[in-house]
Amino acid sequence: MRPLVFNLHSNPLLAAEITKQLEAEEGVLNQRQFPDQESYLRIDSDCQQRDCVIYCNLYQPNDKIMSLLFLAETLRELGAKRIALVTPYLCYMRQDKRFQTGECVSAIPFGKLISNYFDHLITIDPHLHRIHHLDEVYQIPSQIVKASPLIADWVSDHVDNPVFLGPDSESEQWVADVAKRAGAPHLILEKTRHGDRNVEISVPNLNQWKSHTPVLVDDIISSGRTMLTTLEQISNLGFNRPYCIGVHGIFADEAYMELRQYSEVITTETIPHPSNKIEISSALCTAIRTWLRS
Ligand code: R5P
Repeated sequence: MRPLVFNLHSNPLLAAEITKQLEAEEGVLNQRQFPDQESYLRIDSDCQQRDCVIYCNLYQPNDKIMSLLFLAETLRELGAKRIALVTPYLCYMRQDKRFQTGECVSAIPFGKLISNYFDHLITIDPHLHRIHHLDEVYQIPSQIVKASPLIADWVSDHVDNPVFLGPDSESEQWVADVAKRAGAPHLILEKTRHGDRNVEISVPNLNQWKSHTPVLVDDIISSGRTMLTTLEQISNLGFNRPYCIGVHGIFADEAYMELRQYSEVITTETIPHPSNKIEISSALCTAIRTWLRS
């Protein structure tokens, strides 16, 4: 039987593309708000004994989570065979440590919550820093789709003579891989974070790379301070206009406009945004097919 793909509060074009590539059936939902703002949800597709994929992209997650759990639970009650969550951006991974007494390490309760409702999780480059594997916080099997081959292909097609710059040691896991795939050099800078919007980046002497085009790569662009602080430092060094590439472009407040003053800003499609240039549907479908065959 063909799998069902439900789009829950996420990019309809991407959901349609995934459904098409998988030759799956679009899951039909009826949703509305009750007058008291609680959520109504009805499944209008027959899910009995079928594999169900819920495509729910969990950036700005809090408004999506109740419907997500309602849908997963209802599919299960109505006889779905297995249920996978596909979320290109996996939320609550950055709260991975108790920095101050009493803080919630959100990655842990969120992982438990999702694990209670799903059989499988597919995401793109989650923020794994102090948590090294999703298994540490998710009790279900998961697949991580890597953005590095997609970024490397895009850079190879669009940028002459790149030198990749990672703004901090955390970024090395992505930057080194992208650079290797693109056959280009990379450097990792040093970052000290003093607050949400206050970072210090130390840039080494870049004289030997003057003939290259700087390509900054990081997993998340949130306040944009990490990228912006780096760009401000290299802007007077006589380079070609740099590229600033994020896997997940959150772009809080004016971050996008600020970054564009100094660079070409490019992101993957994991969070819908005008900077999206790197498509992700084929890579996601490869992972979904692996789950469907398991
Ligand atoms: C670090 O934890 C991440 O890899 C990114 O460097 C960070 O999320 C960027 O945040 P912002 O854009 O707020 O500087």
